[in-house]
Amino acid sequence: RRLAVLASGRGSNLQAIVDAIDAGTLDAKIVGVFSDRLNARALERVPPDLRWSRDAKAYAQRADFDDELADAIDTVQPDWIVCAGYLRMLGETFVARFRGRLLNIHPSLLPAYRGLKTHARAIADGVAEHGASVHFVSPELDAGAVVAQARVPVLEGDTPDVLAERVLAVEHPLLVAVVRLAVEGRIAEAGTTVLLDGQPL
Ligand code: GRF
Repeated sequence: RRLAVLASGRGSNLQAIVDAIDAGTLDAKIVGVFSDRLNARALERVPPDLRWSRDAKAYAQRADFDDELADAIDTVQPDWIVCAGYLRMLGETFVARFRGRLLNIHPSLLPAYRGLKTHARAIADGVAEHGASVHFVSPELDAGAVVAQARVPVLEGDTPDVLAERVLAVEHPLLVAVVRLAVEGRIAEAGTTVLLDGQPL
């Protein structure tokens, strides 16, 4: 199964996928890494011929960048498209084009804390638990059907960075597990819910 990965930054989630493929525990092939930032560190985690990047900020319209990105993704014919630390919102047309094979990892226990600064908000609210979710991407930000979540405790004295690190440690195996379900053909998006082996989750 062919994977396209979208990433904006460091790429540690992408690295977890690369490592699982190399270890033979994930039967997939990365056919492209796509970034909205020219010098995203994530790009360096794959060979140069698999890298695509443009400076999204240089485009006048969101749709112009999205269309170019979508065309580039289509040229590598992925079965699944995984947003792994992709920090830019995807427009409606883009989402519609890839709907059903588009996954995202988000650092919160959705539906709690959609959007940015999830760790700081969780700490400010004094919640006991925080974590990460992998979900199908729908047009509304961080609102698509959730496939799986991983939980961590929020501890006394946590700063956003400390909590982010604890969450990141569970993001990596979570994302790999969901991508494995995806490439094995075991999950499908069904409106606001997910089918696992044909049954609603
Ligand atoms: C992760 O916490 C991801 O959930 C969030 O941004 C971070 C990206 O980390 N959206 P990395 O680029 O995969 O290292």
